[in-house]
Amino acid sequence: MQQFSHDTIVVLDFGAQYSQLIARRVREMHVYSQIVPYTTSAEDLKAMKPTGIIFSGGPASVRTEGSPRPDPAIYELGIPILGICYGLQVMSIQNGGEVQRPDKREYGFADLTILSENSSLLTGISANSRLWMSHGDAVSSLPEGFVQTGSTPNCPYTVLEHEKKRFYGVQFHPEVVHTAQGKQFLENFVLGICKAEQNWDMGSFIATAIEDIRAKVGDKQVLCGLSGGVDSAVAAVLIHEAIGDQLVCVFVNNGLLRKGEAEMVQKVFRDNYKIRLQYADAEEAFLSALKGVTEPEAKRKIIGKVFIDTFYDEARKAGEISFLAQGTLYPDVIESKSPSGGPSATIKSHHNVGGLPEDLKWDLLEPLRELFKDEVRALGRELGLPEELVTRHPFPGPGLGVRCVGEVTKPRLDTLRDVDAIFIEEIRKAGLYHDIWQALACLLPVKSVGVQGDERTYEEVCSLRAVTSEDAMTADWFRFPPDVLQHAASRICNEVSGVNRVLYDITSKPPGTIEWE
Ligand code: XMP
Repeated sequence: MQQFSHDTIVVLDFGAQYSQLIARRVREMHVYSQIVPYTTSAEDLKAMKPTGIIFSGGPASVRTEGSPRPDPAIYELGIPILGICYGLQVMSIQNGGEVQRPDKREYGFADLTILSENSSLLTGISANSRLWMSHGDAVSSLPEGFVQTGSTPNCPYTVLEHEKKRFYGVQFHPEVVHTAQGKQFLENFVLGICKAEQNWDMGSFIATAIEDIRAKVGDKQVLCGLSGGVDSAVAAVLIHEAIGDQLVCVFVNNGLLRKGEAEMVQKVFRDNYKIRLQYADAEEAFLSALKGVTEPEAKRKIIGKVFIDTFYDEARKAGEISFLAQGTLYPDVIESKSPSGGPSATIKSHHNVGGLPEDLKWDLLEPLRELFKDEVRALGRELGLPEELVTRHPFPGPGLGVRCVGEVTKPRLDTLRDVDAIFIEEIRKAGLYHDIWQALACLLPVKSVGVQGDERTYEEVCSLRAVTSEDAMTADWFRFPPDVLQHAASRICNEVSGVNRVLYDITSKPPGTIEWE
């Protein structure tokens, strides 16, 4: 078991959607936090020397036979424990309390009544503080030695404490933003009760990750596909810090990239970081496979297949490879969580078509799988990646293939690249790039009549789209000051030959998607 060089709060994971959010909240206090499965033995936990333990919530009911239980010897370690939701309930029943299902499930806000003036978990918490509840079961009788220090109208045992043993439990979720003083509750536990030292930062993350990568990889070789996006870039640079030339990166130019992208990737990775980079110019292969195809799904399938063929060809050229590095983030892990409860290893992105060929057997190396997107950006900055790359808008794997609606041809792609570059440049000039989740241009499968100079034209139509979003699941169209759109539109018609009309897309998602396809 790993022993940490920093004070560490271990999150014992009972399968909650929010486990990583708890760890992240702790890291925001500059205290290291790591998630381990609930099955971790007390002995292994002790060896990790945690400063405190947090039991996460979980989807099961403690009243169900076979539901997750931590090793009861954990209560003998003398380490402070905070149980959240399911974590509180499991701690309660393992210490002689009872849990029942009240008539009503409680989901939503509740106001806290403070029942004790000198509770260390409630220091600085206001009367009627707003909590976020999400539970079916609730503690119905106190575990031995515990006192009730907080309640809500529907849940008498909302906050429980055993001061002497330093065991604490809350029925609500302090880790979510809906709990008004969530940060204060967690700080009271981590800093007040556990007295964790606040000396962890991204630099410490890098040091630990480098050690982990070296230990895992040994003298083997790692292959990493670069997409031009931030996740694979950060993963590659981090792994390169750890193992240098044992890392080989592959970048496939599919001919569907944004203007200047292939050059940027080569400059950053090969010239600046001196990373071994195999650059595959496969534009020809992609475009000839896409010839005459207009149906969106067919285009995606072709792009996926040609990508995988090209990538595997490059992999074979790279020599003996043991690991495939991926920039998998925590939200990707959550999306692919297996029914058995453990995060499953799946190959990220749409390129996952039917597993690896027989002669290419790789283990996965995913050094970012504990992190959220903004943490990856912070890490990228710490590793010296250019700000432009670190804060880029998302870009789909099939690239301009999905934005060139209708047939994908080299002249249309060149036109689209120019339109896109002007649109993004105008957005940056207006200082709006970071207010927007994603901005993009599409070329529509329609031509329209226009007049330029004295001539009538019959040219392509492009559509500009910019959206705000939290997670790309839903999105709203971005309200530009009209001047910005006007500048972009007039520059596009003047500077890009072959386009004579510019539309702005005001469809939200749903019903629209972000991309056009
Ligand atoms: P839609 O168009 O479905 O897109 O609203 C949601 C988000 O996903 C991106 N996107 C993709 N990303 N491979 C990717 O890596 C893809 O095939 C793909 N298709 C869409 C899209 O840009 C948006 O951010």
